[in-house]
Amino acid sequence: MEKANNSKPSKRDSFGSSFGVLVALAGSAVGLGNLWRFPYLVGQNGGAAFILIYLGFVILAGLPVMLAEFIIGRRSQASARKAFLTLAPGSRWDITGVLGVICCILILSFYSVVGGWGTEYLYKAVCFDFNTGNDQALKTMFSNFSTSVWRPLICHSIFLALTAGIVIAGVQNGIEKFSKVMMPVLFLIVIGIAVRSMTLKGSGPGLDYLFKPDWSKVTSQTFLAALGQAFFSLSLGSCMVVTYASYVKKDANILSLSAQTAAADTVFALIAGCAIMPAVFAFGISPGEGPDLVFITLPHIFSQMPMGGIIAIFFFLALLLAALTSAISILEVIVAFCIEEFKMKRGVAVALVFILIWILGALCSLSMGPLDSFKILGRNIFDLFDFLSANFLMLIGGLLVVIFVGWKLGRKVVFDEVNNGGSLKMAPWLLKTLLFLIRFAAPAALLAIAFFQIHE
Ligand code: PFF
Repeated sequence: MEKANNSKPSKRDSFGSSFGVLVALAGSAVGLGNLWRFPYLVGQNGGAAFILIYLGFVILAGLPVMLAEFIIGRRSQASARKAFLTLAPGSRWDITGVLGVICCILILSFYSVVGGWGTEYLYKAVCFDFNTGNDQALKTMFSNFSTSVWRPLICHSIFLALTAGIVIAGVQNGIEKFSKVMMPVLFLIVIGIAVRSMTLKGSGPGLDYLFKPDWSKVTSQTFLAALGQAFFSLSLGSCMVVTYASYVKKDANILSLSAQTAAADTVFALIAGCAIMPAVFAFGISPGEGPDLVFITLPHIFSQMPMGGIIAIFFFLALLLAALTSAISILEVIVAFCIEEFKMKRGVAVALVFILIWILGALCSLSMGPLDSFKILGRNIFDLFDFLSANFLMLIGGLLVVIFVGWKLGRKVVFDEVNNGGSLKMAPWLLKTLLFLIRFAAPAALLAIAFFQIHE
């Protein structure tokens, strides 16, 4: 059973306002997943059909998992593992928290490498380096850069240092302040680029591609990709929401915060799609370019577009900001864990985690070049970390979280936490529907995907 949760150490950091919580959560959700992963997955999986499946999973599995993580974090006011220990002392549910931390370590390692690429490409954009580039020159530029040893490592170090610099300042003074300023800037930039892209001649088919479904490309892999992407994009199953929710005040409405975060992330992904696909089609390029889309195809497009040089600067600035607001949330999960489990000072925890992630990230970076032939499960280290986290650990984490909240904590705790002890006066049908989603719909979706994955 659960311990009283009112006697919290007074020094524990917290968010200053509900708006602060929302921008920090949206900052975590909106990231490389929206600007880098979503567009190429849409491109590879048949456009609008993928988007519709994705939306279904956001509602059916994403929202309930997010709410469940919110319940755990806010009720326990503790970091990933301690949250489970507080709510279910003496059980082994704390493993879920440990898995979440491991998942965050894997994600941040490759995320920081791609964030580093974003930093390099922002620099290239500012130097107008794409201008001379034909398609082949830009391909060579990216492959020379990403497979080399030192430059990507330096960029990874810069990105990780920026992330650490914000997290070291704390939740309210670092994470919340940074997100409050950067998130609106980010939205404005991407809306601006979407308007430019949709007004290009020949952009119509790009919009059709995004909004008219072609079901012929849908396979069981599409469902796995869509669910994995929904979890990655909403930052679920990694205890990120548990950790941020532990800094949320008792009077905040966690249902509305969850719904607003999911909505902001989904809207942003669609705007990013509108920024990218119409331009891709307007320049007669195939949409299924894969992970290189952002670093090869887009610079190619920018080099041909009127005002493309400026748009490129804004695009890579947006990519960097989006990546940073997400990376800080991933780092915070690991840092909060170290602070509470090992009684470390924040500064020491950040420094140690920095070293760990720097080394793992360096391996990911080198696996693009010199270490490419080193394969585990048929994948290089970079792809292995991506696959293990997004298609495996996050989904298992999500499943454990909904089972824990739906069945172990149970109805009374769910109603009490969502309804703030009755003070929000929520309709009983709404609470029951949420409980149903947490208990049945989300586990069913997750188990069905796991089943298909095993039988593939
Ligand atoms: N949601 C982020 C993105 O879309 O880029 C990635 C992410 C952030 C995953 C935080 C997990 C996490 F805990």
